Amino acid sequence: MGKQRVLILGATGQTGESIFNALLKDTESFDVEALVRPASAEKPEVKNLTALGVKVHVVDISGPMDELVRVLTGVDVLISAVDPSGQQAQLQLVTAAKQAGVKRFVPSAFITVAPPRGVMALRDGKEELYQEIWKQSVPYTIIDVGYWYQLSFPTLPSGRVDYAAAIKPKTEIHAGGTAPTMLTDLRDIGRFVALIIKDPRTLNKYVAAYGHVSSENEIFALMEEMSGEKIERKHLSPDEMEKMRVEAAATVKAEPNNWMAWGKIAIAEYEYSKYVRGDNTPEYAKYLGYLDARELYPEFQPMSFKAFVAELLEGKGEMPYKRYRSGS
Ligand SMILES: NC(=O)c1ccc[n+]([C@@H]2O[C@H](COP(=O)([O-])OP(=O)(O)OC[C@H]3O[C@@H](n4cnc5c(N)ncnc54)[C@H](OP(=O)(O)O)[C@@H]3O)[C@@H](O)[C@H]2O)c1
Repeated sequence: MGKQRVLILGATGQTGESIFNALLKDTESFDVEALVRPASAEKPEVKNLTALGVKVHVVDISGPMDELVRVLTGVDVLISAVDPSGQQAQLQLVTAAKQAGVKRFVPSAFITVAPPRGVMALRDGKEELYQEIWKQSVPYTIIDVGYWYQLSFPTLPSGRVDYAAAIKPKTEIHAGGTAPTMLTDLRDIGRFVALIIKDPRTLNKYVAAYGHVSSENEIFALMEEMSGEKIERKHLSPDEMEKMRVEAAATVKAEPNNWMAWGKIAIAEYEYSKYVRGDNTPEYAKYLGYLDARELYPEFQPMSFKAFVAELLEGKGEMPYKRYRSGS
């Protein structure tokens, strides 16, 4: 396969940055470009892309179709890593990708493995886009990645890892903590994507990519062993988990713009799917028809969860979504 021209939407986000960094390194395989919305054109993150010599297209993906088709013409692979707020806006991209003859569309999936419909609203929103892709016969690859390492560690009584924790304190064990779940270092997502989009076996397929499989009990035990600290666990039963979801849903009903409550619903649904239903495993992914990236690429060395924890304890971790916290 020759060099592929890849256009990334969402390159300034967490997942998009991981993908952008990995593809940019592989200069033999990829010419990388970025698609940015007009409102963000002057952001420092976008200026950083331009400074790297990357071609940045400033286009509104909900805007005129002919402009979108123009930008997508000649693109081999279109990758979207938008967050759920941009989910709906991607629908037009399917039509534009079809008209422009894009050879592979990688829509913004990148979540845990769960069945479509009725388990996670987040997953259901993505399903709408997948249906549109299939309706228009656009070549695609859907990549799910388990849960980020960066969101999966408990906090410690000393406060030593709080600097990198998006939620603190985080000491909950769900439904007994025994369910195994797929986890991936955020930085490895791009490395997986680089392999997957070069691979003809993954065309028109779902792929599950993950670095590690662990239960909450195993993660807590590892954190305790490596830190020498004892974590006081807060046990949550499935009923208590459901009660929290219902309360957040009631808040959203009363205050539709309460984004904190929306976030709580999303987290509650992730947790129910991972820890009560036990959806996010390599076995269940296969049952749903996913290819397993670890089997496709046996030579791939993911960041181990242990090495991630070691970094964290050395103060070398990084809190996700720092740019939102700094107000950029
Ligand atoms: N597996 C996990 O543990 C996990 C955790 C979190 C998220 N996710 C998933 O990962 C995916 C990406 O989420 P993220 O949290 O990485 O994203 P993020 O950091 O919030 O970044 C979102 C990116 O999308 C861009 N964007 C959003 N709407 C857009 C629009 N209408 N037009 C153009 N650009 C737009 C943003 O650009 P601007 O600079 O213009 O805002 C930004 O670059 C989502 O599918 C999410 O569900 C998975």
